[in-house]
Amino acid sequence: MNAGTRIAVAGATGRLGSHIVDVLEERGYEVVRISRTDGVDVVTGEGLAEALAGVDTVIDAAAYPSNEQGPATEFFVASARNLQELGAKAGVRQLVVVSIIGIDHFTAGFLAAKKVHEQEVVKGSLPVKLLRAAQFHEFVEPLLGWIPQQNGVKHVPNMRTQLVAARSVAEALADLATDADAAAAAGNGTIPEIAGPRAETLAEVATLVAARRGEAVRFEGVTDPADPDGEAYESGGLLPGPQATLAGPTFESWLDGEGRG
Ligand SMILES: NC(=O)c1ccc[n+]([C@@H]2O[C@H](COP(=O)([O-])OP(=O)(O)OC[C@H]3O[C@@H](n4cnc5c(N)ncnc54)[C@H](OP(=O)(O)O)[C@@H]3O)[C@@H](O)[C@H]2O)c1
Repeated sequence: MNAGTRIAVAGATGRLGSHIVDVLEERGYEVVRISRTDGVDVVTGEGLAEALAGVDTVIDAAAYPSNEQGPATEFFVASARNLQELGAKAGVRQLVVVSIIGIDHFTAGFLAAKKVHEQEVVKGSLPVKLLRAAQFHEFVEPLLGWIPQQNGVKHVPNMRTQLVAARSVAEALADLATDADAAAAAGNGTIPEIAGPRAETLAEVATLVAARRGEAVRFEGVTDPADPDGEAYESGGLLPGPQATLAGPTFESWLDGEGRG
């Protein structure tokens, strides 16, 4: 029934994008994959006009791969303009764009770049539906890999987050792209949010990961005094508002294999 509707996924090989592709294909949509791996670049525009031919909706889950504010901002400004301009030329009907819960409270790094992304993408002529998500369950293990261990202790940023499975975010984005009721419910004046079932500290979820791996390491939360957003991370600036959709599984159940798609 959905076979005639073509939906492009930017960031199709990513943590989130690969789930969006799976969800849409399971629901019978024709999916166009956009990533450099697929020969399409949202920053330079290479291959983009061709990829967008006949596309109804673009779901944008492409991302710059580091926390550096300047390059990440340049990435999102270029991708937003290209998807708007080349999308309009190709006759795309709408863009659905994933963002991050709480970005209004942050001033630096990737989160500040994502704020510029939101502002830039709504400047174009195509209608945009935004969805702000909490940090993904999938993001914890790579993050821990970057943190050095000293005398059996890893110092992790003092932050509270309400982690959510990337698969659950992918389902919500697919609903927003294809279901008029979901879009109408989401569009009551504020940007809709999706988070997991409960708020936890990074030290708490890191401890769960280490226990599963049988690693003898202790996690201590620290606040970097040089980080202008340290207080916002610590005080719950990343946590969802009261209207947010809360979707399982918990991080602990996800570690057990639940909700991976
Ligand atoms: N990670 C989280 O916890 C989290 C939480 C909330 C919201 N988000 C948002 O969700 C989105 C996806 O995040 P993610 O963690 O899934 O990212 P990710 O795993 O790093 O994936 C990034 C994707 O973007 C593609 N990409 C990078 N540069 C590209 C370019 N120039 N042209 C085309 N494609 C390009 C990558 O493929 P190639 O390398 O093959 O090009 C990859 O498919 C981002 O907007 C992020 O802000 C993430």
